[in-house]
Amino acid sequence: MALESKLAPSENPPPFERAMIGQHPAIAKLRKLVERVATSEATVLITGESGTGKEVVAHTIHALSPRCRQPFVAVNCAAIPTELLESEMFGHERGAFTGAAAPRGGLLASADRGTIFLDEISEMPYVLQAKLLRVIEDGVVRPVGSDRASHIDVRVIAASNVDLPKAVQRGVFRADLFYRLQVIPIMIPPLRERRSDIPLLVTHFLERIRARNPDRDIQVSREAMVAMWSYDWPGNIRELENLIERMAILCDGSVIDISNLPENVVAVTRPVVPQIPESLGEDGLDLNQLVRDLEGRLINDALKQAGGNKQAAARLLGLKRTTFSAKLRRCGVIAIAADDNQKDSRQV
Ligand SMILES: Nc1ncnc2c1ncn2[C@@H]1O[C@H](COP(=O)(O)OP(=O)(O)O)[C@@H](O)[C@H]1O
Ligand SMILES: [Mg+2]
Repeated sequence: MALESKLAPSENPPPFERAMIGQHPAIAKLRKLVERVATSEATVLITGESGTGKEVVAHTIHALSPRCRQPFVAVNCAAIPTELLESEMFGHERGAFTGAAAPRGGLLASADRGTIFLDEISEMPYVLQAKLLRVIEDGVVRPVGSDRASHIDVRVIAASNVDLPKAVQRGVFRADLFYRLQVIPIMIPPLRERRSDIPLLVTHFLERIRARNPDRDIQVSREAMVAMWSYDWPGNIRELENLIERMAILCDGSVIDISNLPENVVAVTRPVVPQIPESLGEDGLDLNQLVRDLEGRLINDALKQAGGNKQAAARLLGLKRTTFSAKLRRCGVIAIAADDNQKDSRQV
C-alpha cells in the first residue's frame, strides 16, 4: 500500500469497512476491554494470527478515544525496507542521505496528537527500537541527519503475529521496549476458536457487497454455510472476507452453494472427538463455553452428515427435533438452519 494513503487522517470509522463484528463471548470480552482501554493513554500491544483483526481493533481503540478527531497512522514495519524505515518514521533533514533533497517530516510527526499503529513490530530493526522507546517514554523524535529533537504527542499501538517474548529471548527484540509496549496486552483469538461468529461475518460481508452494489443480492446455501463453519480458516477473517468477495463475483446465480466453494474449504472433515484439555491449567477453563463449543461442533457434524436435514441430524444425536433446534439456536448456528417450514429457503 502506498505510504501516502496511510497518512490520511481517519474520520470516524466508516460504516462496514472497519466494524468489529462478533458475538462470541471472547469477542464480547474483547470489545469491553477495547472500550476501557480507549479512554486511557496506555500503550497497547495487540497479538493474534494474521487476519484476525489486529488493525481493526487498533482503529477501534483510536475511534473510541479522545484522539478520534486526530490522525490514525498505520505503519507496517515489515513492508518498509529496513534502510528506509527510520526516515519514513522519524523524517529526515535535507542532505541526510543521497536523494534527500528536501527535509521531510516522518510518519510519527504526521500522527502528532493522534495514534500511530505499528504493525508487525517484531520486524523493526534493533537500533530503531531504542529510538521508538524514546518516543514512547519522552515523546522525543529526532529526524535522520538532524541534531535537533522535537516533541510529539502520540499514542502508540503495536501489533505482532509472532511471539515477542521469544524474540526477546533470542536477543532480536529489546526487552525494555517489549515491557513498555505491553502495558495493555490484547489477544485476538483465531477465527476457528470463535466459529459461532462465522455466519454473522458472512452476512456482514454480503451486506457490504449489497450496500455497494444493490443489484448483487447474494445468499449462501445452508450446506455452504455448514462447510464454512467446519473449515479452519488459517487466514482468519481476511481469508473469509476475500472468499466471500470472490464467490460473490464468480457465482452464477444469487446463491453461493457448496459447489462454488474452493475444494480446500469443502474438503475438511472435522474430527467428531471434542478437544477437552488434558488438565484444567492454572487459569481453569470456561465450562459453559467448552460445552457450547462441543455441542456446536457435534451439531455441525450431524447436520453435515445429514445433508442439512434437521430431523435426521437430531436423530443422529439421539435428540428430539425440538431439543435439537433449541440447541442449534443456542450455539449460534441459527443462521444456517432455516426453520423447517422454510426448508427450501436458502436465506442465511
Ligand atoms: N471483527 C471483525 N469484523 C469484521 N471484519 C473484520 C473483523 N476483524 C477483521 N476484519 C476484516 O478482516 C480483514 C483483516 O483484518 P486486519 O485488522 O487487517 O487483520 P490483521 O491486522 O490481524 O492481519 C480486514 O479487511 C478487516 O476489515
Ligand atoms: Mg495487519
